[in-house]
Amino acid sequence: MKKIEAIIRTDKLEDLKQAFREVDIVHGMTVSQVLGHGEQKGFTEYIRGQAIETTLLAKIKVEIVCKDNDVDGIVDLIIKSVRTGDVGDGKIFVQPIDHVIRIRTGEKDGLAL
Ligand SMILES: Nc1ncnc2c1ncn2[C@@H]1O[C@H](COP(=O)(O)OP(=O)(O)OP(=O)(O)O)[C@@H](O)[C@H]1O
Ligand SMILES: [Mg+2]
Repeated sequence: MKKIEAIIRTDKLEDLKQAFREVDIVHGMTVSQVLGHGEQKGFTEYIRGQAIETTLLAKIKVEIVCKDNDVDGIVDLIIKSVRTGDVGDGKIFVQPIDHVIRIRTGEKDGLAL
């Protein structure tokens, strides 16, 4: 099992959810509002002529735990639905997951996903 963590633009969450709705590949996800920066280290905003360093930008973090075989399909779907081609499109991290337990039933791993 793997966890796919995607940091995306806030205005792309609806597109991502729609893409997931169209295919039966994602069985659950966690979404958080986060702050972050990448290579460009945020940007400088001008407020009443004064330069304000904005070093952290609002982003959305989407976490999905899935079977190993589904990782490539889900990653492709994320890219297709959120990519604009401009800087700040976000990043996807894939990490191993040891165990999943469904609290209600006690089912484990593949059965709990
Ligand atoms: N190395 C990293 N570690 C943790 N989070 C990151 C990392 N790089 C990017 N992020 C997260 O992803 C968000 C979007 O990053 P962003 O798309 O700007 O990456 P980038 O490397 O600057 O690529 P681009 O040049 O396309 O902008 C950041 O605001 C941050 O939350
Ligand atoms: Mg960037």
